[in-house]
Amino acid sequence: MTQAEFSRYSEFISSQCGIKMPQSKKVMLEARLAKRLRTLGIDSFGEYFERLTGEDGRDELVHMLNAVTTNKTDFFREPTHFQYLEQTILPEFLEDHGPGTGDEHPFLVWSAGCSTGEEPYTLAMVLTEYAERHPGFRFSILATDISTKVLDRAKEAVYDADRVAGVPLELKKKYLLRSKDPAKNIVRIVPSLRSQVQFRRLNLMEEGITATEPFDAIFCRNVIIYFDRAIQERLLGRFCRVLRPDGYLFLGHSESIHGFDLPLRRIISTVHRRNG
Ligand SMILES: C[S@@+](CC[C@H](N)C(=O)[O-])C[C@H]1O[C@@H](n2cnc3c(N)ncnc32)[C@H](O)[C@@H]1O
Repeated sequence: MTQAEFSRYSEFISSQCGIKMPQSKKVMLEARLAKRLRTLGIDSFGEYFERLTGEDGRDELVHMLNAVTTNKTDFFREPTHFQYLEQTILPEFLEDHGPGTGDEHPFLVWSAGCSTGEEPYTLAMVLTEYAERHPGFRFSILATDISTKVLDRAKEAVYDADRVAGVPLELKKKYLLRSKDPAKNIVRIVPSLRSQVQFRRLNLMEEGITATEPFDAIFCRNVIIYFDRAIQERLLGRFCRVLRPDGYLFLGHSESIHGFDLPLRRIISTVHRRNG
């Protein structure tokens, strides 16, 4: 990939999905795209760029975005967030809305940039457990990502057994099914938990992010770190518009709203509340 080609790709990727592509990522980008070029039988990055930006480029764009996104995730990643949700936010929610009003007012949570599903399924475990202890409490989980590849895996909900090490034993017994074939070291999320999560493809760069009902909490963790600051601020502003007043925004451990002009106040590190 020539330097000029890299600049064109870098600008194009940032405009399509927000992900910044500094010079230090050139080798990684080349390696990831090379695989796609081989699949298509295309032998130059220049030709592939023409294809992407040509008349039928939109279909190819989906594949390119699958290739350039970084999807690292885990069950119970940053566990203090789930403790805070369970010990502080949910009791407060019940106090505000009263027990037994769940059908009219379920707790609405959005996992934005959900990758292969570990984050929304962790939420589903925590919220299901809470619902069992608090009859009348209802919830709904929306999980979105730009990558169709990770969304397919999330819906399938099959994981290598060593990927679920972070799930507490009691929850493992309840919510993970071992493969009947002992040679396969894999588990699958039980159907009752799978049905608690609605997966959808959504590009967070799209202007028209709307919600019929505002969310009580948005988890957008380890996603904006890949965006430049102007895009981060614009996106967080859009989250504020679909978050209820006093609703919660969870960011990843190395993401911050510092220096942004947003109607958010910091509660604990990486957890913020929308101003009322
Ligand atoms: C590193 S993963 C984080 C997964 C999970 N939130 C966590 O913290 O474990 C980042 C995810 O953001 C998604 N992503 C990147 N840019 C996006 C965009 N413009 N719109 C939607 N999702 C995006 C990627 O596809 C990837 O799956």
